[in-house]
Amino acid sequence: MNTPAALLDVNQAATLLAAGQVVAIPTETVYGLAANADDARAVAKIFSTKGRPADHPLIVHIQGAEQAALYAAHIPAFAAQLMHAFWPGPLTLILPRRPEAAAAAAGGQSSIGLRAPAHPTAQALLQACAAQGVTGLAAPSANRFGKVSPTRAQHVADEFGTTVPILDGGACAIGIESTIVDCTRGAPIILRPGHIRAEQITATLADGHAAAPPATTASAPAPKASGTLEAHYAPRAKLRLMTGLMIQTALDVLGADAKHIAIYSRLVLRSASAQLVRRMPDDAEETARQLFAVLREFDAQGATLIWVETPPADAVWDGVRDRLQRAAAA
Ligand code: TXA
Ligand code: MG
Repeated sequence: MNTPAALLDVNQAATLLAAGQVVAIPTETVYGLAANADDARAVAKIFSTKGRPADHPLIVHIQGAEQAALYAAHIPAFAAQLMHAFWPGPLTLILPRRPEAAAAAAGGQSSIGLRAPAHPTAQALLQACAAQGVTGLAAPSANRFGKVSPTRAQHVADEFGTTVPILDGGACAIGIESTIVDCTRGAPIILRPGHIRAEQITATLADGHAAAPPATTASAPAPKASGTLEAHYAPRAKLRLMTGLMIQTALDVLGADAKHIAIYSRLVLRSASAQLVRRMPDDAEETARQLFAVLREFDAQGATLIWVETPPADAVWDGVRDRLQRAAAA
């Protein structure tokens, strides 16, 4: 664990952001590494701090639907319906970008990702920023490129030490990144699954004029999105997805040799050996809330292998399953 990073209050954070600094901020999904979206030099600091290629677009966080027109050149009716149904909340909409707005944050793309976070501290921060003339905060997840997203202020301090000041908003209530919906192709296309599910999006639009059901990532020609890269969200230890039965069988064979294996499974295992075991909740939302903290904890305890029981096939598990499959692909 590193030395504690500077902890800020909302007004201090807003002042630093208005002055072009990078600040880690809480949201209901994961912590973000924020900077003024309209300040290209501040945005460049996000990319260098994170170690992320500068052509990967960032999400711009705004107070609500009223601010969307500052960044979006055009808001299709179905996108407006999604904003009204799910903002503030864990939903990012990709919209055509106003050419003069937030070009650096958009990584040069002609589109822009917008989200109004629901976390009360994030909302208070956005309000304090607006009072200082900052209308949008560009923020990717506050982790080094390719690594597990932070869901606690301590995770951010573990990643960046004292180099990044933190606005602490406690543990993130949702725990996995927002659902991303591309709204630039005439119908909603889900680029990244999250807490808000495809069926909820479809139900919201069912009686509107843009009722096309969301497609899945597989059928969509997705624009560049690092959250959609195969190997992403990876802990240091090698992660494998297995059935509960496979895990139990392998543990029985290994016996005491299973010491450096960490296990996250719904099945209650019979094993007396010293491996690290955390029980996966039966509830998908509870699992999402703790998933990244569990993976970080396994890394911190020196696990070299993490065996995770494959989540159930139901749609409520889509977000968790997606993050685990990417972690296993790393
Ligand atoms: O929950 C979240 O979305 C968190 C919190 C901090 O808001 N943010 C987050 O950001 O997960 P990040 O950068 O780690 O992932 C955002 C994803 C990336 O895959 C990025 O490429 C994609 O959104 N994205 C952003 N703008 C885009 C655009 N214009 N077109 C396509 N993808 C975009
Ligand atoms: Mg990320």
